[in-house]
Amino acid sequence: MIETAIDIAKEAGAFLRENVGKIREVHEKAGLPTNLVTNVDKQSEAMIIERICARYPGHQVLAEEGGGRETSSPFKWIIDPLDGTTNYTHGFPVFSVSIAVEHEGEVIAGVVYDPNLDELFTAEKGKGAFLNGKRLRVTGVSDLARSLLATGFPYNVRENPDHCIEHFIDFLKEAQAVRRLGSAALDLAYVAAGRLDGFWEVNLNPWDMAAAALCVAEAGGRLTDFAGEQFSIYRRQVVSSNALIHEEMLCVLRRVTDREVSD
Ligand code: IPD
Ligand code: CA
Ligand code: CA
Repeated sequence: MIETAIDIAKEAGAFLRENVGKIREVHEKAGLPTNLVTNVDKQSEAMIIERICARYPGHQVLAEEGGGRETSSPFKWIIDPLDGTTNYTHGFPVFSVSIAVEHEGEVIAGVVYDPNLDELFTAEKGKGAFLNGKRLRVTGVSDLARSLLATGFPYNVRENPDHCIEHFIDFLKEAQAVRRLGSAALDLAYVAAGRLDGFWEVNLNPWDMAAAALCVAEAGGRLTDFAGEQFSIYRRQVVSSNALIHEEMLCVLRRVTDREVSD
């Protein structure tokens, strides 16, 4: 299955690259100018699902643009056909394709492909994480002050109740620097690859995280929710790190609520 996922992710990635600057339709999801979908997202998804169904006709599919299907199979493919749509619509070259395979509720394989850099991040449960075939390992940085972090903001950032702007400000004051790339799958893959020491975000979906979270775990990183509890791709939020700075990250995330209590 991982080989199938790799072939399809590369094909979809090539399609995304070819179509930069050639988008025909852009729609605002739920009327939000911050939440876009294009004909390219939809065509990429249709192509990915067609390929998966041809190869594994009984498997379940969960895909961002709604092309999925439920069956009684224990296997579920989880797909983001274009992660980083806002970047894509502006020709900002940070976007990816994410394809994961879940078996009985556990992600067992994941592929994130960045067609701009021709970088393929892969992971299989218990078998490690790789970038273009080279084994990945998270960083050994042990203090937040020397850490490069990334985050993203939800589409409803203006009224989101999860304090994401306050968290951003708090991390800016504590970390070496904070980035906002615009593709959560790449953010997580970069933690796995040791390019980032940590990443956090709220309001994510399973297709943003499934493949790349497995890369982080298989590269020796740690993943939890904001409370430090067990991570799930279905629980909308993630704190991921090289494990060494994880507790410090959780402390910073708790600071907003601590301030509220003391006010
Ligand atoms: C988005 C990207 C972005 C993150 C958003 C996601 P999309 O996915 O991953 O980095 O901040 O929360 O929804 O919509 O471009 O597939
Ligand atoms: Ca996404
Ligand atoms: Ca997407």
